[in-house]
Amino acid sequence: MNTAIAFQDNDEARARAEPRFQGAHVSDSVWRQLLLLRQSKGKRPLTGWSTEEHAAWELYAPLAGPVAPLFVFAQIGQSLDGRIATESGDAQNISGRDGLKHLHRCRALADVVVVGVNTVLADDPRLTVRLVEGESPARAIIDPHGRLPDDCPLFAADGRTIVLRRSDTGRPSGVESVAVPSRAGRLDPQAIIEALGKCGFRTILIEGGATTIGHFLDAGVLDRLHVSIAPLLIGAGPAGLKTSPVQTLTEARRPETRVYGLGTDIIFDCDLNRATC
Ligand SMILES: NC(=O)c1ccc[n+]([C@@H]2O[C@H](COP(=O)([O-])OP(=O)(O)OC[C@H]3O[C@@H](n4cnc5c(N)ncnc54)[C@H](OP(=O)(O)O)[C@@H]3O)[C@@H](O)[C@H]2O)c1
Repeated sequence: MNTAIAFQDNDEARARAEPRFQGAHVSDSVWRQLLLLRQSKGKRPLTGWSTEEHAAWELYAPLAGPVAPLFVFAQIGQSLDGRIATESGDAQNISGRDGLKHLHRCRALADVVVVGVNTVLADDPRLTVRLVEGESPARAIIDPHGRLPDDCPLFAADGRTIVLRRSDTGRPSGVESVAVPSRAGRLDPQAIIEALGKCGFRTILIEGGATTIGHFLDAGVLDRLHVSIAPLLIGAGPAGLKTSPVQTLTEARRPETRVYGLGTDIIFDCDLNRATC
């Protein structure tokens, strides 16, 4: 093997994956145009926007107007030291004000938001759009062992809630549920996506927690990953992303990444379809 060429190839791969930083401003005009893009494709940035408004368009347009029949993205909000909660389980508002708005924008651009059962049991989340203009997505909860209580508040909330379960676990009548085939002891993430596609959803947001996002990352079925980092240190607690470890750094996945400053938080926007290792 020619080592000089190998080094060059590696350098080029790293250069492609190297993040570019831009400040982003989601003005009312940008957000309106993004919501229009979500409804009817073919919308463009408007002339007269600032550089920061164009950056905001670049960040969200891939979520608002994907061309593939199904588009799957994940977003996770974490601290500087990569935590998503304290050891005692306090997970409220790890993200700053603009990071939370970012999460609500991600929800508003999705048809369905997917969470693991631990998140529902720990946080009792509403999974709605409240901090920006836009419609709330449907909700899908991965609960293979039927651990959700029958009086889970999400079952009674407005909008559609679907439980993704193993074929041998049931749910009470009145709760929409879909049996998903397992692979290697877990519900197969690809099968989950296909099942949600059959339910009529095109844009799928995997919101967490870390275990759930890790399964989708390991299965290689995510198109995009947003990691939102807020400037606080927690010291201990669950890690932001749990993926299968690599032995050497040359095996590490290096997605093509852009970095956006959104006021209180920094967003790493990783294009997983353009990843090298
Ligand atoms: N900062 C953020 O952005 C953010 C977002 C969401 C949640 N959170 C935090 O994350 C924490 C919970 O995260 P977590 O990693 O412990 O749990 P989680 O991802 O919410 O749920 C994990 C559980 O969901 C089920 N599950 C998920 N994917 C599955 C699959 N492919 N196949 C089979 N089962 C699957 C399993 O249930 P069984 O155990 O029954 O098998 C698994 O143990 C909470 O503290 C919450 O506050 C943070």
